Amino acid sequence: MSKPYIYITRKLPEEVIAPLFEIADVGMWEKEEDPVPRDILKKEASRATALYTMLTEDIDKELFDLAENLKVVANLAVGYDNIDIDYATKKGVYVCNTPDVLSDTTADLVFALLMATARRVTEGAEYIKQGKWKHWSPLLMVGHDIHHKTIGIVGMGRIGEKVALRATGFEMDILYHNRRRNIEVEEGIGASFTSFDELLSTSDFIVCMAPLTSETENMFDNRAFQLMKSSAIFINAARGGVVNEEALFSALKNKEIAGAGLDVFKDEPISADHPLLAFKNVLALPHIGSATIETRYKMMELVTRNILNVLKGDSPETIVND
Ligand code: DGY
Repeated sequence: MSKPYIYITRKLPEEVIAPLFEIADVGMWEKEEDPVPRDILKKEASRATALYTMLTEDIDKELFDLAENLKVVANLAVGYDNIDIDYATKKGVYVCNTPDVLSDTTADLVFALLMATARRVTEGAEYIKQGKWKHWSPLLMVGHDIHHKTIGIVGMGRIGEKVALRATGFEMDILYHNRRRNIEVEEGIGASFTSFDELLSTSDFIVCMAPLTSETENMFDNRAFQLMKSSAIFINAARGGVVNEEALFSALKNKEIAGAGLDVFKDEPISADHPLLAFKNVLALPHIGSATIETRYKMMELVTRNILNVLKGDSPETIVND
């Protein structure tokens, strides 16, 4: 019987993928930064038993139809909006993601974005480097307090919970909106469930942690931004598609909100001349929510284990479409 074939869509460190070589032939895209071109992915998928994917690849119907031997798509991310889950299920292909291992790390970055946006950290650092700092002055670079303010978290999943936990350290009032009530976070952390509109109109910090689905796409639209306080700061570390970027642009331009901290964008990478990046009160990062050395290794190891499990006939640890 021929060996299974695993295709890895990005160059990854040898040591995390080494176990795969013991049971399969392994092919890997040769570049660390650039995604695999679609034509190569299609060719590789057509012979693959397992695909080890990044969020930069569209794993769609066309690809599933080509991949007749495919048993598992294991994505190096907790989000899986790049994969056609319904079609994978129809084809009997497991889809796996990397939950839990990245929750604390991503929540840390949410707070880094929130604090840096509220306290104008990057703006202040640039100000010094550009030689603009002449004197201390009472209202130089004044920002917004974080402690004792109200944080509204939209999407109370595993990462949302960790964001809420961090907010308790800043003695914040915590509101959340989610498809389902999360009693653990209400009883354990003291967060209050509210409607989307009430959260928007009463929060000082609005943190989007909702996954991108057909229901959440563009949920932050003109109406949503207009409901926010003019002193509100909007943070998005989930997916760019949850936000209508034209609406966010108008809200910033018309001073309907005070600033935004963004780790994700509708089209990634966002171009350097994108109008959103021209605002001083927008802090933008290149989708690095889970990017710490410890966490990225844990994610890669989990993807490796998920693939090994499926190829050995066991259930994967973290299945999306069970
Ligand atoms: C995820 O895991 O979905 C993140 O966005 C990537 O770090």
